Amino acid sequence: MKEIKIGLIGAGVIGSGVIALLKKNRELIKKRSGCLLTLKSICDLQIKKKNWLTDSEFKLTTDYRQILNDPEIEIVIELIGGTTAALDVILGALKAQKHIVTANKAALSMYYSRIFKTACEHKREVYFEGAIGGGIPIIKVLREGLVGNSIKSIHCIINGTCNFILSKMNKLGMSFSDALADAQRLGFAEANPDLDINGYDAAHKTALLAMLAFNTDIDIRKVYTEGINSLQAIDLAHARELGYTVKLLGIAKNHGSKMEVRVNPCLIPEHSSLGSVENEYNAVLINSDFLGTSLYYGKGAGSYPTASAIASDLTDIAKDIRLKEFNKYKYMPFNAKDLMTAGESAAKYYIRINTIERPGIFSSITAVFARYKISLEKVIQKDFDNLKNIPIMFVTRTCSEKSMTGALGEISRFPFVKGKPVFLRIEEL
Ligand code: HSE
Repeated sequence: MKEIKIGLIGAGVIGSGVIALLKKNRELIKKRSGCLLTLKSICDLQIKKKNWLTDSEFKLTTDYRQILNDPEIEIVIELIGGTTAALDVILGALKAQKHIVTANKAALSMYYSRIFKTACEHKREVYFEGAIGGGIPIIKVLREGLVGNSIKSIHCIINGTCNFILSKMNKLGMSFSDALADAQRLGFAEANPDLDINGYDAAHKTALLAMLAFNTDIDIRKVYTEGINSLQAIDLAHARELGYTVKLLGIAKNHGSKMEVRVNPCLIPEHSSLGSVENEYNAVLINSDFLGTSLYYGKGAGSYPTASAIASDLTDIAKDIRLKEFNKYKYMPFNAKDLMTAGESAAKYYIRINTIERPGIFSSITAVFARYKISLEKVIQKDFDNLKNIPIMFVTRTCSEKSMTGALGEISRFPFVKGKPVFLRIEEL
């Protein structure tokens, strides 16, 4: 039986899950796949502090080049994260004729073409199931399960930290800062949660899903990205009264020669499939031409779920090595599609405008909406006790984002309007 030697670079939370899985399920994987996966070397800058790793079991090092220069090692698992050293490891391993498994969505989304061009030049594989949706096998779904389908759209809840925080805000009425503190206390949010709460992690993952779904290249810097840090409890409460819940959604829509790829908080129907995804769970809803709607759900982060995805990548590569197969087609973008600007996109919107009490306010505001050809579906004003700060809510019919932001820009200049109007996109799914 073919034995495949593996080098692991980065023995943090995910790396330790991979070590545990390869130890516990080595026999099971062997029987199922016909390959003996052997973790030979582990590199970590803090290796001396990891006293649960022993020299007798693995070759331990702080220098990743030892793994890249080891001719016995055929697959390198890159789990150091970030975009600088990780890129050196990925490109260095490919050039050293080794296959790569990585969970690094930041490096992949930023350097997609460079990484896959190098992979094709050296006929080596780059697998990254653990980079998107943790343990959910979503890349396999797009590349294999739905290979016969043209993908129309993807809506995904793809950042567990944000979904955890929003679950607390939606269900318990907590403020953003209290919900974030709770997530950090329970270990669901990083000590520095910026990449998550600003939407960048979700943007990296959504862009990668869109690249696979639409077989195109995307400049991650052009993906419209908005996080959850300015959401206010009052808008989540209003959303609930309207039958919606607020989620950070990754959206990828195929509009023919153009595509829409964006990440932003959205109102979605509370009782929809994605509306029911709570806490740290992830879900991806795909609409494709032959299957129709399909939903993929599971744990989107963490040591064991991500290790589960990495094991799947290892066995796929092991099969390719055994069969001496390299299929460059799975890496080749063949569609040139332009990314729509935020303004070009169209949706329904929830809007909140705070005003003082005065006759004629509604007519002034609705006149601006009419001039921008924005039709209103609902207008709501609650009982109020503070005559200097009255929230008025609107739900629009579908309109372009450009019209909506243009109208709100004008409305915000009325002297009776207090503060900046709030708007949130509505996705009826
Ligand atoms: N920080 C990510 C999340 C997990 O909260 O979902 C890693 O991709």
